[in-house]
Amino acid sequence: MYCVVMKNKKILIGISGGIAAYKTCELVRLFIKAGAEVRVIMTPSATKFVSPYTLSVLSKNEVLINLFPETEDFSKVEKVDTKTSHVNYGLWADLFIIAPATCNTIGKIVTGISDNLLLTTVLSSRCPIMIAPSMDDDMFKHQVIQKNISKLKELGYKVLQPEQGELASGLYGYGRMPEPQTIFDEAQNFLSKKKDLTGKKVLVTAGPTVEYIDAVRYITNPSTGKMGFEIARAAQERGAEVTLITGPVSLNSPENIKRIDVKSADEMFNAVKSNFKKIDYVIMSAAVEDLKPVASINKKLKKENLDKKFSFEFEKSVDILKYLGEHKNGYKLVGFALETDNELKNAKEKLTKKNLDFIVLNNPNEKGAGFGHDTNKVKLIDKKSVTDIPLSSKYEVANKILDKLLKK
Ligand code: CTP
Repeated sequence: MYCVVMKNKKILIGISGGIAAYKTCELVRLFIKAGAEVRVIMTPSATKFVSPYTLSVLSKNEVLINLFPETEDFSKVEKVDTKTSHVNYGLWADLFIIAPATCNTIGKIVTGISDNLLLTTVLSSRCPIMIAPSMDDDMFKHQVIQKNISKLKELGYKVLQPEQGELASGLYGYGRMPEPQTIFDEAQNFLSKKKDLTGKKVLVTAGPTVEYIDAVRYITNPSTGKMGFEIARAAQERGAEVTLITGPVSLNSPENIKRIDVKSADEMFNAVKSNFKKIDYVIMSAAVEDLKPVASINKKLKKENLDKKFSFEFEKSVDILKYLGEHKNGYKLVGFALETDNELKNAKEKLTKKNLDFIVLNNPNEKGAGFGHDTNKVKLIDKKSVTDIPLSSKYEVANKILDKLLKK
């Protein structure tokens, strides 16, 4: 899809020798379709995974692989084409993306080794460099690799977090290269360099809350926290000072944010109350559990003490968003509505009842939307309008929410 930010942008893509190289073909397509100019450098081992010919056709440019001309007889090399030298490519690019970046390539980058064209170009580049590591779970977790990845960050490279999932080895774990669309979104945001939240303080809540029935059993909901984490990340990248209050989730914190971990709705409420003063924007994306047991039992209930049928008494947990709506002290407030029927009507009611600036409506029954997905499909609703955000990455949706918030 054509995109203004990408129009005529010069994207240099470096491919090292990992199986995820096949996904990089799609990444090149995304940039070309968005109006960018793309050049590709491959390491010799990357050519074992995908054909340079494919990448040349997709990028509409010659693909560079070798540091030296492929000849034994240098007397026949008439003229070195400096336009396709590592120095020239490094200066040409607005953004250099290395995807996939193998352990080998990462190790060499952090130590300054430059024994192929891709690595020499890294050293001679003046543009920002984004690195998408890709490897097996055990390799990714290895302390040497973790140290190298930290080193990359210290050196100022923008490192993308590998995803969790099934790996080409058949193992399940971390190390999977982010999907092409995710890398594209990151690049787009990086290039747009929106710093429109500089000086603003943003409070985001995320994830589920859990309410313990006894010492070992609880009720909760399937929220994974992805939406809230993406909002926190996007806000931080746009210059905001971000506080993220999250229920139990298994996500890594976005960089440079203040994270507060909580379990129950009451704990989240207390954390919100301690952090909502002097805030500019509050985004309540947590799926706060609505019910909590009336009496808390702090030991494990034994079966033999229970009848065949038994019941627990629950009460409503505190409505944090409603409290925030009633205590607005200058901040803009965004809520979420999770609705499966009468969506618009219910969401609009929540908008008014909770005194919100706008509400994000999502329906978990929509394909690719809601709990656990990397994508979402929402409507942004305020008193005057309803804006449809088509199925997009949660990161994209997060940015759309922030765009709207800034207009309030
Ligand atoms: N919310 C909250 N505290 C609660 C319940 C929900 O702050 N105890 C917030 C959520 O973070 C969300 C919004 O209220 O931003 C709407 O949540 P939702 O679950 O859709 O609606 P509820 O208000 O809980 O009402 P219902 O479950 O009846 O739809």
